[in-house]
Amino acid sequence: MSAETVLQRSDPPRAPLPVPPAIRPLQLRDRAPLHQLLTKDALFTREEVSVALELIDGALAEPGGEYRVLVAELDGALAGYVCYGPTPMTDGTWDLYWIVTHPQVRGNGVARALVGRMEGELRALGARMVRVETSRLDGYGAAHAFYERMSYPVCAVMPDFYRPGDDLVVMLKRL
Ligand SMILES: CC(C)(COP(=O)(O)OP(=O)(O)OC[C@H]1O[C@@H](n2cnc3c(N)ncnc32)[C@H](O)[C@@H]1OP(=O)(O)O)[C@@H](O)C(=O)NCCC(=O)NCCS
Repeated sequence: MSAETVLQRSDPPRAPLPVPPAIRPLQLRDRAPLHQLLTKDALFTREEVSVALELIDGALAEPGGEYRVLVAELDGALAGYVCYGPTPMTDGTWDLYWIVTHPQVRGNGVARALVGRMEGELRALGARMVRVETSRLDGYGAAHAFYERMSYPVCAVMPDFYRPGDDLVVMLKRL
């Protein structure tokens, strides 16, 4: 886990946001700011950015379909998003595919608000559980800390899954 990418518990608390983030469904005008957000801190490879955009385009093309996106706004500006969808061939299992918040607002509860809203919607739909798959590489330390904090414990690790030395970590929450 690298010090640059992970907000340490000992970091001084950030000034609280003056207003909580507004969470709303994706709109076409969000696509360009979402593209910028995905390339902002160079965590994602070009291929990953292109896959993330494909899912966003899927959500725009078919609202309520295979891919769904909620965005967070602070003061009218895009501050983050979460992409999720029903897991094919399961009964009540969903995947959380992607979550990103703007580097300047991290640690302020934006991702918590996005996941809270997503889970609320999924409970209303009768969902049973949400699965997350991530890499165990250093850059994902913040994501692991975040998911554990949101009660998504690790339930499986597949060594060398993505490439040698890059494990797949599965985290699962029962709703
Ligand atoms: C992971 C990520 C989405 C978290 O977003 P965030 O807006 O900073 O998260 P929040 O402020 O809502 O944090 C929610 C909880 O997780 C904890 N948390 C978040 N980041 C943490 C970190 N780096 N280290 C330790 N705990 C962390 C917070 O302390 C908070 O707990 P609390 O409410 O009990 O205090 C953000 O760091 C990010 O976009 N990272 C890059 C993209 C990424 O890795 N996405 C996941 C893979 S697709």
